Amino acid sequence: MKFDTPAGTNPIDQLKVVGRPTDRIDGPLKTTGTAPYAYERHDVVQNPAYGYVVGAAIAKGRIASIDLADAKAAPGVLAIVTAENAGTLGKGNFNTAKLLGGPEIEHYHQAIAVVVAETFEQARAAASLIKVDYARGKGRFDLAAVKDSAPPPPPSEFGGKPDTAVGDFAAAFAAAPVKLDATYTTPDQSHAMMEPHASIALWEGDKLTIYTSNQMINWGKGDVAKTLGIPRENVRLVSPYIGGGFGGKLFVRADAVLAALGAKAVRRPVKVALTRPLMANNTTHRPATIQRIRIGATRDGKITAIGHESWSGDLPGGGPETAVNQTRLLYAGANRMTATRLAVLDLPEGNALRAPGEAPGLMALEIAIDEMAEKLGMDPIEFRILNDTQVDPEQPSRRFSQRRLVECLRTGAERFGWNRRQAKPGSVREGRWLVGMGVAAAFRNNLLTKSAARVRLDRQGMVTVETDMTDIGTGTYTIIAQTAAETMGVPLDKVVVRLGDSDFPVSCGSGGQWGANNSTSGVYAACMKLREAAAQRLGFNATDAAFADSQVRSGNRSVPLGDAARGGEIVAEDFIEYGDLDKQYQQSTFGGHFVEAAVDAYTGEIRVRRMLAVCAAGRILNPKSARSQVIGAMVMGTGAALMEELAIDKRFGFFVNHDLAGYEVPVHADIPHQEVIFLEETDPISSPMKAKGVGELGICGVGAAVANAVYNATGVRVRDYPITLDKFLDRLPAVA
Ligand code: MOS
Repeated sequence: MKFDTPAGTNPIDQLKVVGRPTDRIDGPLKTTGTAPYAYERHDVVQNPAYGYVVGAAIAKGRIASIDLADAKAAPGVLAIVTAENAGTLGKGNFNTAKLLGGPEIEHYHQAIAVVVAETFEQARAAASLIKVDYARGKGRFDLAAVKDSAPPPPPSEFGGKPDTAVGDFAAAFAAAPVKLDATYTTPDQSHAMMEPHASIALWEGDKLTIYTSNQMINWGKGDVAKTLGIPRENVRLVSPYIGGGFGGKLFVRADAVLAALGAKAVRRPVKVALTRPLMANNTTHRPATIQRIRIGATRDGKITAIGHESWSGDLPGGGPETAVNQTRLLYAGANRMTATRLAVLDLPEGNALRAPGEAPGLMALEIAIDEMAEKLGMDPIEFRILNDTQVDPEQPSRRFSQRRLVECLRTGAERFGWNRRQAKPGSVREGRWLVGMGVAAAFRNNLLTKSAARVRLDRQGMVTVETDMTDIGTGTYTIIAQTAAETMGVPLDKVVVRLGDSDFPVSCGSGGQWGANNSTSGVYAACMKLREAAAQRLGFNATDAAFADSQVRSGNRSVPLGDAARGGEIVAEDFIEYGDLDKQYQQSTFGGHFVEAAVDAYTGEIRVRRMLAVCAAGRILNPKSARSQVIGAMVMGTGAALMEELAIDKRFGFFVNHDLAGYEVPVHADIPHQEVIFLEETDPISSPMKAKGVGELGICGVGAAVANAVYNATGVRVRDYPITLDKFLDRLPAVA
């Protein structure tokens, strides 16, 4: 199905199943511990051996010598795979050749060996007997130190151009009567998902199956094939349940490749999970940024100049954190510029983490907007509303398909009690607590991607959906079931959803908050085909047959849907693909985040007291799972504001706090009551579902809303995340 004109009325609009706050259909499997995760596929894999990954102990340099003798002789050891005996690995699309390092070492904890043994404990014990001599090289580990010589990165699909300019920014900024020029920093962050990267690899002849934990099955299948130098059709990836990804599982990592190499070496299935301490340095992370923002405005608050520059670093050949992108679209202003620079750093690979670009970009921009509003003596909500735009500020002929940022902010202000906020910071005191409120805008683009599905109808009227789409904890199973049930006119319990298998049609996968809208649109397309086939079998005219209550009706004839499959199961397959509606219109999602924070006037301890998000993101397919996405993202945004930071040892070039004891994330006690409001909205320009995504919108702006609340409470501005008390304790107002 090609989607190239705005959606008219269609079966989804019935909203008998779609749009309802349905419980997750996979919930019982999760709560009973019976959802099969990658490392636990005892149901399908017999007699596996265990692989233990050894990470490099230097960040840059080479292995001078490696002595495996003692390890090989250790009890239970079956094989040790290193770069010396693995053969050359292909590059893949996502740096997969580097998933096994040696002799060159490019980052700390890059895998240099996998020890395969009968038990996990034996593999781990043997791994400790491997002796490696390194020739340590000189690495670059400090973004601030190399920033000024960082060049622009090449243009990229997701990142766009490194430099953008409209009008004359420099002149307009210089002439502006009110201006701000401030620099903000965000640290390296770890995905820190619950389920570590884990895989079981199984060879049957030259066919390889990997049970793994991966967001993008088709990318992974292609990369495994390229890495191992085998035909694509010989690779199967299976990933039906995923314990969190956040962008860290967009690509196959060392667990999958080393399990495959280990299994080949021992001619037996091999299971590999990355240990928690390996995850921070062996896999990817969100890279740190330094961001300079300049805003110039008239005295009555109209932005005349807005500039955003961002510096980040990555390994040679890597990519930037695209932190300036939202600034191209969020506020009006005739004179604008953005610049992205990319330094070479020898830290582990930087890559996508939930709302890559916008999440750290808005952490900076939305503090800057707050600072600017204060300079102007304006309420920060009114300042945002005054500078709202309904068109792409760089190309005014291009409108947003929907843009209700103003309504998000106004609704939020009303619901949160914003009128009780004191504009003068540090002026609300409750006992030992300084109390303040903060706001920030949320913005994240809506990305359209081809997505396919297959649907089957049997004579009992059961509908089975198959697609390689993944559910990374987001609720995909449920919204796909709702889509199929709505389109086929059956109740939810008549739908079976099978996901995450590369034998199924290729979906959009889970990433960039594109999963919900595109994957359900693909399922809708396949179901429309199935309706046609079913109507035809029943001798109905497909265009006027009605599908409802598990019946198909046409004229005065009504028959059970399952009857269509009497002569045998009906199978239909289709995909959604898009014309150029996303070029004609800017498609984005919007929100407002509101935070009340209290800061201990004596100790600087920060407690977030209340949080509210108001989102406008097209049709909400399931308000319950969508709310879960947003409140989870708000928790993550709070972590980003107050706690999360991979601390770099700049002498040796690694992330020191590489476990959940040292890498702090919020716990329940840190998070207060949260509220989420979705504006009633459909976006017929987005897809036949008229939906968008919320999974990343939810984190966008949260950090700045927390920061702005802390400022409003204390009058102390911190521009370097996370906002830990060491950064402001000595600046707190004197208290009696
Ligand atoms: Mo997302 S960071 O594209 O999984």
